Parts: sequence; C-alpha cells; structure tokens
Amino acid sequence: MKDKGIRILGTGSCIPPTSVTNDDFAKFLDTNDEWIYTRTGIHSRYYSTDKLNYQMAAEAAKNALENAGVDGKDIDLILLSTCSADFFYPSTSCLVQGLVGAENAVCIDINTACTGFITALDMASRYLHTGDCKKVLIVASEFLTRQQDFADRSSCFLFGDGAGAVVVEAAEKPFYSVMGAKSDQLEALYCRTNYELTMPLPGFDQYDKSIRHILDNPSKNKFLKMDGKAVYRFAVDAMSDSFARVCEKAGVKSTDIDIVIPHQANMRIITAAMKNMDVADDRVVCNLENHGNTSSACIPTILDDLNRKGQLREGMKMVLVGFGAGLTYGSVYLEL
Ligand code: UT7
Repeated sequence: MKDKGIRILGTGSCIPPTSVTNDDFAKFLDTNDEWIYTRTGIHSRYYSTDKLNYQMAAEAAKNALENAGVDGKDIDLILLSTCSADFFYPSTSCLVQGLVGAENAVCIDINTACTGFITALDMASRYLHTGDCKKVLIVASEFLTRQQDFADRSSCFLFGDGAGAVVVEAAEKPFYSVMGAKSDQLEALYCRTNYELTMPLPGFDQYDKSIRHILDNPSKNKFLKMDGKAVYRFAVDAMSDSFARVCEKAGVKSTDIDIVIPHQANMRIITAAMKNMDVADDRVVCNLENHGNTSSACIPTILDDLNRKGQLREGMKMVLVGFGAGLTYGSVYLEL
C-alpha cells in the first residue's frame, strides 16, 4: 500500500527477570554451550518467573503508552499477537484493555505465531487508513517456556519469554507488505491444546492424516514439536523471498535499507537470508544472543531497544521480516 504508512509514537517492552544460560541447560540435558551457540547464536534467554503472558503484555503496553505520551482512553484498537496465551478466552487484548485503561478500544488477538507482530503492523496500517482508527496499540507477548518439553534437547533451548509494544498512528509515508502461509508444512512446528478428544471425528482421516496423528496422541504432544531442519529450510527461503518481494513493491534495492529487524530464530538462518538479499551485517539488528527466540515479541522488543537508545531516526528505511508456525511468513517495508 503506497503512502499508507504509520508513525511510531512510542515503544515499550517487558523483559522477564530470570536469565537462563546454555550452561544451565547442560546441568540437566546432554548438551553444551558450544553446541547451542555455534548452531544458533544464542547464549542465554529470559524466563518469566513473576508474570503471566497477559501481565507481560500489559507492562509492555503501559511502557509504550507512556513513551508515546498517549492516554489509554485515546487508543481505538488493540492488536495483540500471541501464540502462548494464558486463556483461550477472554482474548489477551481484552485483558490488556482493562489494565491500560483503553476503554474505547476494539480488542483483537492475532495468531500467526512468530510472524504475529508483522501481521499486526500490516493490519494496523489498514485500519488506520480507513479513518476509523486514529491510534492503535500493538502488543506482542509470549510465554513460550510453558510450551517446552525440557527433555527434548533439539528445541527447548531456543525459546525465551517477553513482550514488546508500539503505539502507532497513520502517516502519509511509504508502507508495503508481503504476507503468506504454507500450510502443507503444519507438522514442522506445532503445539497442540491440552484437550483430550472425547468423541470420534467421522471422516477426519480422509480430511488430513497429519492432523489426525497430532490429535490422537494428546499426552505425547502437549508440548511444542519441531522439525528443526524443515523449519530452517523454509525460513531461509521464505525470509529471502518475502524480503525481495517487499523491496520490489516499494521500488527500493535491498542495499538502500537502513535497518533490517529479522525474526530472531537462529543466527545462521538470519545470516543466510541476509546474504541472499545482499544486506550488510551492520544494517541487521539482533538480540537473540541474550534473549533467544521470543516468537512474535522479538521484533518489538528490538524496536523498543533501538528507540530508547535514540537509534530510530525520521526517514529511515526499515524492513521487518519473519516466519513462524503455520508455516507463515511476512515482510513489511516502512519509512520512519
Ligand atoms: O520461530 C521458529 C522456531 N524454530 C526454528 O527457527 C528452528 C530452525 N532450526 C534450527 O534452528 C536448527 O535445526 C536447530 C538449532 C534446532 C538444530 O540444528 P541442526 O544443525 O539442524 O542440528 P540437528 O538437529 O541436525 O542435530 C545435529 C546433531 C545430532 O547428532 P547426530 O545425529 O549428528 O549424531 C543431534 O542429535 O546434534 C545433536 N543434537 C545436539 N547435540 C548437543 C541435537 N540437539 C543437541 C543439543 N546439544 N542440544
């Protein structure tokens, strides 16, 4: 969408208090710091030991509102991304609404897994440019450690907890997005609900064998399950492709971009995708070394860090690019 851009009025985050290092994993798993760091670029991650997901979300949201100088009452819409909510319902956005006094806001939760913040930004731009909404609060909050099987050494060390938020309004600046999903790889990354099936699902086998398999094994499958290599392959291609397409839409070269914030899954994935796109290392901002993968919260927590260090400047060209369970992917190009 040309000139359907956004202005970031303020940012906030909630970083949990407890840092867990790779060496901590080596105390109970057959692993070590060298293996994890070389394979992923992660040294440590934060675990929430004092807040539920909605409380992290509310703290990040309050910080963003304060940073923006915006009263909760002036928010027209809360878009909240999470794939690790405390409740099926009410939505986490409704819980946050009460805690930040956003009594006039429409509340919508989004689940495109790790792509969630990018999806929310794209939706915010569309809502803002209808004219119905003046200010949108976007929050991404994740409590992923609850979904980990700490006996599974192939995945549990990747993830951390946290939340990030931004307050945005409409601006006549360039804004382009590329979004998509490829659900033929459902089983590459999933976490089922804890419901036991209480009745047979007639005809379900014909519908999809892979889903049947997930539902039939509740006790074995209540934690996050991942085919790391399949996700890895998808991620490098999907990030490179959506990045290239969003630059093409925007009419810019990848070398023109001032800042790229990629989803923080694995340093090797990021390096490979950025190399494909000819993006110099000094343009790419990461925090995974000390935060791990916090799913949809990765990108807004980095934005908050950059903002508070005074490193977001008017006119900067930025690409946010990510992928997640689904498998989903997305990129947005915006000018600050
Ligand atoms: O938001 C999206 C979330 N997910 C992702 O982004 C995941 C993307 N994938 C990845 O990041 C990588 O696939 C992993 C980091 C998860 C794994 O790296 P890999 O290079 O694909 O390793 P692997 O699974 O092929 O394992 C290689 C070896 C195996 O041993 P053998 O069979 O070669 O003898 C594993 O058993 O490393 C072994 N291994 C470990 N060794 C020490 C697996 N996990 C560990 C471990 N510590 N934690």
